[in-house]
Amino acid sequence: MTGTAPEFATTMVVFGASGDLMRRKLGPALFRICRRRQLPPEVKIVGFARTDLDDDGFRAYVRGGVDEFAGPVDDEAWNHFAARLHYVTGDVTVADDVARLGRELEKLESGPAHRLYYLAMAPRFFAPAVEGLGASGMAAGEPGGPRRDIVIEKPFGRDATSSDALNTLVHSVFREEQVFRIDHYLGKETAQNILYFRFANAIFDPLFNRSFVDHVQISVTETVDIGHRGGYYDQAGVWRDMFQNHLLQLLTLVAMEAPAAINATHLRDEKVKVLAAVRPIDAADTVAAQYAGYGDTDGVPTDSRTPTYGAIKLFIDNWRWSGVPFYLRSGKALAVKGSEITVAFKRPVVQLFGTEQSPRPNVLSICIQPDEGVHLSLDAKVPGDPVDIDLVELEFHYRTSFPDLVVGDSYERLLLDALRGDAALFTRSDEIRQAWGLFDPVIAASEDASSLPPDVYQPGSGGPASADAL
Ligand code: BG6
Repeated sequence: MTGTAPEFATTMVVFGASGDLMRRKLGPALFRICRRRQLPPEVKIVGFARTDLDDDGFRAYVRGGVDEFAGPVDDEAWNHFAARLHYVTGDVTVADDVARLGRELEKLESGPAHRLYYLAMAPRFFAPAVEGLGASGMAAGEPGGPRRDIVIEKPFGRDATSSDALNTLVHSVFREEQVFRIDHYLGKETAQNILYFRFANAIFDPLFNRSFVDHVQISVTETVDIGHRGGYYDQAGVWRDMFQNHLLQLLTLVAMEAPAAINATHLRDEKVKVLAAVRPIDAADTVAAQYAGYGDTDGVPTDSRTPTYGAIKLFIDNWRWSGVPFYLRSGKALAVKGSEITVAFKRPVVQLFGTEQSPRPNVLSICIQPDEGVHLSLDAKVPGDPVDIDLVELEFHYRTSFPDLVVGDSYERLLLDALRGDAALFTRSDEIRQAWGLFDPVIAASEDASSLPPDVYQPGSGGPASADAL
């Protein structure tokens, strides 16, 4: 991936810096990048939030998260990192506070610097933050001068209408190339490996089409329930929380054409084409379910109909995939945690070895997590037996092929890319628009009070039987 080399110093400003995302994800990821000496030189990380802290208080807060999620931490590495952390107390909805933040940044920077504004806060603050940055003149960059970029966390809107409104507001202050909408699934090493697997090898992608593929499954299952996130989750549900973003992003990587180049323009152009070709999802091809006991969670109404599990069948009406079903499913409180893409190939056209022993279809499994890797099942003759056939596996695992390398957290890669100004692994406004367009009707059907309530499944099970039927 290419990016702009930072010829200026860089300041990353984290809005909502005293929150959970900074402690659990951003702080530990930035620390690890810094420890590997990959942060741009002269970088400063400035936290901004309402919690009254000074620089040392902020450093102690970040250190707590680093110890818990990036430990063990040695003092030298920590001191090198901590010297870059600063904090400004303020309320993003108060114009004077944002203006004061601007003055503090100028003092800290002592010269022109790239700025990356990171909105790590509840979605209701996205609009005030963007407006505040615009009104205070902190968003506009001069041509050839330092960049002014913004990272916006998910959820980006809650339907097509609200995401359009947010995009319109964002575009009134920032140009699209300044905007980095994050989907952490794109930062996963194995999600990126889908493109390497398909386009760095000559032998697999020619088979990825309707002539050879019977169906594709994309499955993201979690053992955790919604824990303490009842307030957020009940408003989101599985369609908004997982499908509209993470699962559709995986779908685009599996189904897209080879981009003209791996850069933000061409990569995202191809992803948008896939989404544009997805046939409107038929209500009969969806299953929504809720785990038993969900309604007893704090922040969730006892009679909530919010689905915690979803399964859909969809079709991509283009030349490559016409007629091939794609099955997507995801849920919480299930028996197994795993994110996997399986491509099931067609059977050989002629059953040379008789019907009794007819070979089973080859299946390619791309394991996103855990135990990241790729499996391909093959039919092989069982030695000694005149006719017997069995399935064997060709396997690649990161842990055995790259034993000395750790598969990093997705935030590390995405933060580095954003700091370098490379938006290839971030979603563009038209992608988001297409994705909401596909899921708005699915969500409307499941929220329709006159429709059937979601099926119920037992926590720790494999999900509802209705999904297996689909
Ligand atoms: C988040 C969702 O975006 O992704 C969570 O809000 C979900 O509900 C998480 O648990 C899954 O991410 P990962 O990386 O653990 O698969």
